[in-house]
Amino acid sequence: MTDDLRFRRPVEADHPQLVGQVDDWWGGRNLHQIFPRLWLQHFTGTSWLAEDTEGHPIGFLVGFISPDHPEEAYVHMIATSPNHRRAGLGRLLYERFFDDARARGARRVTAVTWPGNRVSVGFHRAMGFRPADGQGTQNLYGTPAYADYDADGDDRVVFRREL
Ligand SMILES: CC(C)(COP(=O)(O)OP(=O)(O)OC[C@H]1O[C@@H](n2cnc3c(N)ncnc32)[C@H](O)[C@@H]1OP(=O)(O)O)[C@@H](O)C(=O)NCCC(=O)NCCS
Repeated sequence: MTDDLRFRRPVEADHPQLVGQVDDWWGGRNLHQIFPRLWLQHFTGTSWLAEDTEGHPIGFLVGFISPDHPEEAYVHMIATSPNHRRAGLGRLLYERFFDDARARGARRVTAVTWPGNRVSVGFHRAMGFRPADGQGTQNLYGTPAYADYDADGDDRVVFRREL
């Protein structure tokens, strides 16, 4: 796997191609709405793009160190091409981000996902994240989650991982 890909920081010029793919990569959900161009204007120093040998994007992660909580890193989106899944690419992207976060002094990573996204829930658990399960959470789709977290009907699992 690692012989067939290379990692680099994304740049703004990558946005049109990536934003055109995210709905497909998320199985038809309207994910382009949460991936405006600003992510590749202001957060590239802690984000990663994986390409195949021909330079086609096959995975990306956009994340940052929290300006309000410098001990906390936050992953906004992570995805791999449907043709390259279960081969360790998502794990490699996260490991690069963990290294970025540690190097900048962060102590933990947060990632928020929809509890019905079983692939994302399984992936984050496999990456060492644990769901917040304290006050205000309830079992949704088998995972502790906050109902109406982002808006009415927008339930979320809040995953945390220590570094
Ligand atoms: C979630 C996603 C990024 C995982 O990428 P990936 O490249 O397949 O991940 P990896 O191959 O590195 O998997 C690492 C581990 O995660 C777990 N995992 C990955 N896919 C899984 C699945 N479909 N079901 C259960 N566990 C899974 C496994 O334990 C896996 O290790 P293994 O392959 O040795 O069993 C990818 O499926 C994806 O892009 N999904 C659509 C976008 C999305 O939902 N993103 C997350 C929310 S922002």
